[in-house]
Amino acid sequence: MRATMPCLHGHGHGHGGKTTCAVASCLALVTFLVVVLDPRSRASSWLLSSSSSSPRVLSPRSNRGSGSSGGPLLATSTDGAGGGSGGQKSTGKEVLFRGDTGGGGLDPLVSSLVNSDLGDDDGASPHVSVAPAPSPAPESGFDNAPTWDGAVEVMPLMQRRRDVKLERLELGLAKARSVIKEAIRNKDNRPPLTDKDHVPVGPVYRNAYAFHRSYLEMEKLFKIYVYEEGEPPVFHDGPCRSIYSTEGRFIYAMEMENRMRTRDPELAHVFFLPFSVVKMVKMIYEPNSHDMSPLRRTIFDYIDVLSTKYPFWNRSLGADHFMLSCHDWGPYVSSADGHLFSNSIRVLCNANTSEGFNPSKDVSLPEINLRSDIIDKQVGGPSASHRPILAFFAGGDHGPVRPVLLEHWKGKDSDVQVSEYLPQGVSYIDMMRQSKFCLCPSGYEVASPRVVEAIYLECVPVVIGDDYVLPFSDVLNWPAFSVRVSVTDIPDLKRILAAVSPRQYIRMQRRVRMVRRHFMVNGPPRRFDVFHMILHSIWLRRLNVRLHGQD
Ligand SMILES: *[C@@H]1O[C@H](CO)[C@@H](O)[C@H](O)[C@H]1NC(C)=O
Ligand SMILES: *[C@@H]1O[C@H](CO)[C@@H](O)[C@H](O)[C@H]1NC(C)=O
Repeated sequence: MRATMPCLHGHGHGHGGKTTCAVASCLALVTFLVVVLDPRSRASSWLLSSSSSSPRVLSPRSNRGSGSSGGPLLATSTDGAGGGSGGQKSTGKEVLFRGDTGGGGLDPLVSSLVNSDLGDDDGASPHVSVAPAPSPAPESGFDNAPTWDGAVEVMPLMQRRRDVKLERLELGLAKARSVIKEAIRNKDNRPPLTDKDHVPVGPVYRNAYAFHRSYLEMEKLFKIYVYEEGEPPVFHDGPCRSIYSTEGRFIYAMEMENRMRTRDPELAHVFFLPFSVVKMVKMIYEPNSHDMSPLRRTIFDYIDVLSTKYPFWNRSLGADHFMLSCHDWGPYVSSADGHLFSNSIRVLCNANTSEGFNPSKDVSLPEINLRSDIIDKQVGGPSASHRPILAFFAGGDHGPVRPVLLEHWKGKDSDVQVSEYLPQGVSYIDMMRQSKFCLCPSGYEVASPRVVEAIYLECVPVVIGDDYVLPFSDVLNWPAFSVRVSVTDIPDLKRILAAVSPRQYIRMQRRVRMVRRHFMVNGPPRRFDVFHMILHSIWLRRLNVRLHGQD
């Protein structure tokens, strides 16, 4: 297992960097930083170009530029409210439809597998904007840009040859859509599909049969292109341990991927922007400066390079592109580019709907605190009868939710054991194994690594916090194996958990065990594990987009 865990060692990035010595890659990095990041050489021209471009000029590129103009590009505020006009909406309806339920548009049933409880795809309007607003009307700085309702001429001129290829890709996706739609319609009349590794069945899935169908279609068809531009560590690299590990693990797994990765961008359904925000924070951010503009500039420039060099970004205004980050700042820095923010699939741990996270377009990335490469040790736990504690939490008093939890429950009740720090010699993992319910309050941001920790240790997770979209909730039926408590119900916590009957608890715990495979980090990845679930989430969102060649 060790030898195959790509995160353990440096490994090839598929473009020949594998065996180059450390010095060479270091030089390459420095060169890249100088060219792309030197703020002195670029800041003034950005300032000029962004302030001189009208925010309402909606040709693809100037729109992108204006999406980053004004505050955001040069913003130094860290509170997200300062400069976030990144949530700018263009309609782009000539290019693509998302969740279109009108006549010739997308199949609404695919959306219903994705988001049947979100209800935001039911609008009858045939003109659907690129990025529908998230359902809870956000106050946040990410989404305060004016909306623009006019028709936009966004289809750049392209060669006929390319259109044919795109149409062929779209045809394949259309077939997959109709297969999945059929699966949703007939789920009750079908025997489960066969599968040598795993047959999804039971209440942990929102629609087990349709999920399986969709998963198999993905394996058959889905092709991802990883842009090769950019040098490690900021690109093609990422953290493999710590609470941000899913960022690095995904980037590595994607670099190693053979089956669903294509080297030919013309064959790709989606395009991966392989940057690591965690590495940017390490390499580019000046500690305590509260200035994220260098990170935003890196992303802005990266997209600038790609959209100049290749036709793909302009073709979709980013809608068939995805980024991934587990860092708290992922959402904020993604607003460096208006189209990245509002069109692209953003795979984020910080899946806060009040900060522009849009569940029908963006993907909630699980946060997993990997301390070592041997995950098996962190997995498994006793049955309910060997769990004397009702509920357990230990963790720092930060963010908007935990102060409320600690205020109500810290040291108050032996059934609900809530504390900031465990006494010396008491093991955190043992405590989780002795508890029926593991409390997972949001911290600095909405996601908590405790959710997956609890799942690993067979403790039923109690997700405390609002605004959080749980990972894979398009596929998984979270209420079957977890409890959700809103901040206002924290005083009621004990009553809520005590109301779960022993029989109900045993069922929930069994389901926790059943979903665990979907959160496992394997090296190399295995079918249905966390890497493939992330890919499946991206696949579903790509299915909700249709790109049109020009007429
Ligand atoms: C994409 O659009 C921008 C602005 O319209 C343009 O500068 C760039 O060259 C285009 N890219 C390609 C590959 O045509
Ligand atoms: C989600 O975002 C909103 C708006 O920025 C913020 O007020 C809230 O605290 C965030 N939630 C968490 C748990 O961080």
